[in-house]
Amino acid sequence: MMRHLATLVTLVVGVISTAAMAQDADLVKRGEYLATAGDCAACHTAPKGGKPFAGGYPLGSPMGTIWSTNITPSKQSGIGNWTEEQFARAVREGVSPSGNLYPAMPYDSYSLITDEDMKALYAYFQSSVAPVDAVPAHKTELSFPFSQRILMSGWNLLNLNKTRFTAKSGEDAQVARGRYLSEGLAHCATCHTPRDLTMAMKTDENLAGGLVGAWEAPNITTDRVSGLGDWTDAEIAQYLKQGHVPGKGVAAGPMAEAVELSLSKLTDGDISAITAYLRTVPAVADPTQKAAPATFGTPVEDHYSFDSTAARKGLHAANEGRAADASVYADATRSDFTSINDGAVLYDSACASCHMPSGAGSKDGYYPSLYQSTATGSVHPNNLVMTVLEGVHRTGSSGPTLMPAFENDMNDRQVAAVASFVAQNFGNPAMTITPETVAEFRSGGPKPLLAKFGTYLIGVPVAAIIAFALLAIGVVRLQRREVHGS
Ligand code: HEC
Ligand code: HEC
Ligand code: HEC
Repeated sequence: MMRHLATLVTLVVGVISTAAMAQDADLVKRGEYLATAGDCAACHTAPKGGKPFAGGYPLGSPMGTIWSTNITPSKQSGIGNWTEEQFARAVREGVSPSGNLYPAMPYDSYSLITDEDMKALYAYFQSSVAPVDAVPAHKTELSFPFSQRILMSGWNLLNLNKTRFTAKSGEDAQVARGRYLSEGLAHCATCHTPRDLTMAMKTDENLAGGLVGAWEAPNITTDRVSGLGDWTDAEIAQYLKQGHVPGKGVAAGPMAEAVELSLSKLTDGDISAITAYLRTVPAVADPTQKAAPATFGTPVEDHYSFDSTAARKGLHAANEGRAADASVYADATRSDFTSINDGAVLYDSACASCHMPSGAGSKDGYYPSLYQSTATGSVHPNNLVMTVLEGVHRTGSSGPTLMPAFENDMNDRQVAAVASFVAQNFGNPAMTITPETVAEFRSGGPKPLLAKFGTYLIGVPVAAIIAFALLAIGVVRLQRREVHGS
């Protein structure tokens, strides 16, 4: 009898603890999915084979390089000793046990994460991520005054909304889910929303287009010319999952990373929810974009009918007359363009083998058409130039995609020439590209005013709020003296 009772007790205890373990496992699994949606790995894993979440990824900020930290559960080098509260405060409010974080960590988006999801994220990081007992090789060292992390408390007071996500009354459940993911974990606005002088997102221009270094994260509001108003739901969903929509555009640069590491791994339900949310974003027009990027260029059906004689020679029509003069093609090997400065010749030498002399791309669409694409039809030259400089590297649900980078093979004048040729012939002729533009993009993009005049600008709004006044007056004076005294 006693034996039976003991067996029964063991059984019951076993069932209860198995149930608890299953519940834990569910929580951890959900946390893993949320970490994917939040793309934590993109920034917390060092490039070229760094250990997952061990930090050491450089984020180029206008104020200098910010290095991500080790968020593995290592007790000595990571967050192994952190409580859930400490973790939640760092992720949602940008304050770690050792002080303020820079907003390069997108806590101003993550502030929306619900308590329930935070619990799951914490469970995943503490129990399922392999601990790495090493701190990243580089430490963030910004110049003064940005070296003063306490300044971020002032920035937070001005810019951080600490309310967690809740659906609006009457909000459609799918739209609410999409809004939660887009505004919170997937932090689309971090890249796609323009920023003001203090580098805060301009909330009244939500998703109207922003800069990520020199890359442009385009306007994805519902505007029919500047935004996604003319994209179908299926096209938006395909872009997010695969990063490639013929006749609309492809994802290169930072968006390729977001697609590869995060969006391509979300459920179809969540992708539809994000799409449904994007449909509700108020339209914001860019008056300089006169027609939708996808309307530039006439698509060529037969990939060799554009100009058959020239095409057979592998030449764009613009070069046909000159083809007899072999000298313009001297040195036209892929790795050495040194003596070529003509955009048309550069195009035929460096681009036509994949994008075709006509710009129509390959029949199967693997090499995309250079017509009807955001990068070439935009009035902004950023993504066309950046694609030539950095190429395209993306692994999506349909396998790897590769376009070589030309940054080491072409100088600024050559990149400007070939990009101008592409814009004039296949894209938006209003796009202007000079060697100076290329040089600026090469060095990381335009510097916002805050970085150029940071000591001056940050001093004013922040000092007023955090009683940093004395220091700020000193800083402002110093700056004025330099400006006027020279
Ligand atoms: C866009 C890049 C980026 C993304 C995405 C990102 N982080 Fe961070 N994170 C950073 C950077 C950079 C720092 C260090 C900031 C600093 O030094 O001030 C950081 C710091 C942290 C810290 C503080 C660690 C410490 O030792 O102080 C935690 C915790 C953290 N991140 C968790 C997360 C989680 C969880 C996610 C995903 C939900 C995530 N991060 C996504 C860039 C990012
Ligand atoms: C790390 C920065 C970053 C994040 C995060 C990001 N994007 Fe992007 N996105 C970009 C950049 C840069 C491009 C331009 C890519 C190109 O043309 O090669 C882009 C392009 C796009 C496009 C194509 C627009 C067009 O006109 O061609 C869509 C749609 C888009 N993003 C939606 C989203 C959504 C939705 C999210 C959030 C779920 C998101 N993005 C998150 C940087 C980002
Ligand atoms: C080896 C083949 C190859 C060569 C050579 C090549 N490309 Fe590409 N290109 C690609 C591929 C592949 C893609 C991306 C397709 C995708 O994302 O699905 C691409 C994409 C692009 C895009 C769209 C990028 C965006 O962000 O929307 C542009 C513009 C472009 N290439 C221009 C050029 C120019 C200009 C040259 C010559 C300087 C060139 N390419 C040379 C293969 C090539």
